[in-house]
Amino acid sequence: MTDKLNAHLRLGLLLLVTGLIAHSAAADGNAERGKSIAYTCLGCHGIEGYRNAYPSYRVPKLGGQKAAYLTIALQGYRNGTRQHPTMSAQAASLSDQDIADTTSYLASLGADTVAAGGTSGASFAAAAACAACHGQNGISLSPSWPSLAGQYEDYLVHALNQYRDGTRKDPVMAPMAATLTDDSVRQIAKYFAGLEGLETTAAE
Ligand code: HEC
Ligand code: HEC
Repeated sequence: MTDKLNAHLRLGLLLLVTGLIAHSAAADGNAERGKSIAYTCLGCHGIEGYRNAYPSYRVPKLGGQKAAYLTIALQGYRNGTRQHPTMSAQAASLSDQDIADTTSYLASLGADTVAAGGTSGASFAAAAACAACHGQNGISLSPSWPSLAGQYEDYLVHALNQYRDGTRKDPVMAPMAATLTDDSVRQIAKYFAGLEGLETTAAE
């Protein structure tokens, strides 16, 4: 293991600890209220295979995604570390309480599958460096880190390329993604997409 990778892992541990503290300090979410807010969201996220146009990739699955990560993602669209016109507009319209309510509802969806899923423990050399945080089975080890198992392959490629070209800013993932080639991005995305985990959940 290289020193650089070690440094990333230490940073990851630090973020895990601070993430847990931030999580416990966050406003308590009211999932019932969140459900009505999420109705709009599931108009895109709740439709299997729904596509973003220009560039074309599938809208990420949220069912079973880690709660604190969903909050971090929405805050990212609000403060500009993540760029997407629709999502920035959606997130800008949400208060902190709205975000807490919506993410606690979304995180409650698909939770059973994620708990049971991806126990194959399959190993894959190019993904080994990722397993320390995202889990060998693609289910992340911290509520602040996204699970990747079962996520759409083309969305994973898109996300990794955004870290590589600097469109999406994150101090942990930018250097991780910078070490990847186009080929390994494709292989890694295919690997994680093929594991059992996240799901598309429709509005009830
Ligand atoms: C018009 C379709 C659309 C609607 C409506 C929409 N989203 Fe999204 N959402 C997207 C797309 C496309 C992305 C991926 C954007 C990117 O590339 O960063 C995304 C990304 C996200 C992510 C990041 C997922 C990840 O794995 O990082 C979260 C969280 C999210 N949306 C939550 C919501 C919530 C909550 C709402 C409702 C308040 C909502 N979305 C409404 C299309 C939509
Ligand atoms: C030290 C912990 C750590 C390691 C190691 C790590 N990641 Fe991440 N990863 C994160 C964090 C934290 C985020 C969320 C960053 C953000 O908010 O954009 C993330 C986000 C992602 C996303 C975006 C997911 C989404 O839903 O949008 C992908 C894809 C990803 N990582 C793939 C990888 C791959 C592939 C590797 C190995 C080459 C890797 N990661 C290694 C911590 C890590």
